[in-house]
Amino acid sequence: MTAEKGTRLIIAVDGPAGSGKGSVCRSVADRFGLAYLETGAIYRAVGLIALEQGLDAPESLAEAAAEMPFTFRALGGGNYGAFLGEREISDDLRREEVGERASQVSAIPDVRQALLGFQRGYGGSDDAILDGRDVGTVVCPDAGLKIFLTASLEARAERRALELQAKGEPVSLREVSARMAARDARDSGRSHAPLKPAEDAVIVDTTPMTKSESIERVAALISQKISNR
Ligand code: DC
Repeated sequence: MTAEKGTRLIIAVDGPAGSGKGSVCRSVADRFGLAYLETGAIYRAVGLIALEQGLDAPESLAEAAAEMPFTFRALGGGNYGAFLGEREISDDLRREEVGERASQVSAIPDVRQALLGFQRGYGGSDDAILDGRDVGTVVCPDAGLKIFLTASLEARAERRALELQAKGEPVSLREVSARMAARDARDSGRSHAPLKPAEDAVIVDTTPMTKSESIERVAALISQKISNR
């Protein structure tokens, strides 16, 4: 959906790990023809580079973030891929150790700063939906619609454990839950751009919802926004 000049609609969807942001956003982006950016993939790409190149110092990590040839591409059929140059890194990014490292590097202010321009410019003049932790609070504080998607730790850990087990990763619910609780604490407790709902965000608690119910709830909010524009 290409917006009239000056009327670009940005939809910010923030929330903790495992809240279902990715599947909800992919689905509504396809339905409403929105450009979609999973901002967590950018932090995960920095985490992957940190692991592969053994980077540790904040300056080296910020430099890597500023220089990495990251792209996020719609591959058709509601699928998206993350790339460094022409190397597709989508599967690497889903690894638990990469998510952990991403959570650590994302607490470094200079790394966050280096990634702001890419996020703000994403989609050019098209309507766009971005998901992450601080899209509605820091990246796009003027977003036309802000949604905070959340769910209980138990529900999120169960969803993530099932997802990892389906991919053949031998994880227990207890370890996924412990790692997620630690990641929640780090993402919410950091001083710079912590995970928190924007004051004007609509809170959607998906604990009692199926994936398709979450999608329909968010789709209804977007429809309402578009019809009131
Ligand atoms: O959404 P995710 O689990 O893929 O994100 C991975 C990590 O990246 C997460 O632990 C925190 C960080 N992140 C962030 O700090 N800000 C964002 N907008 C998105 C992700």
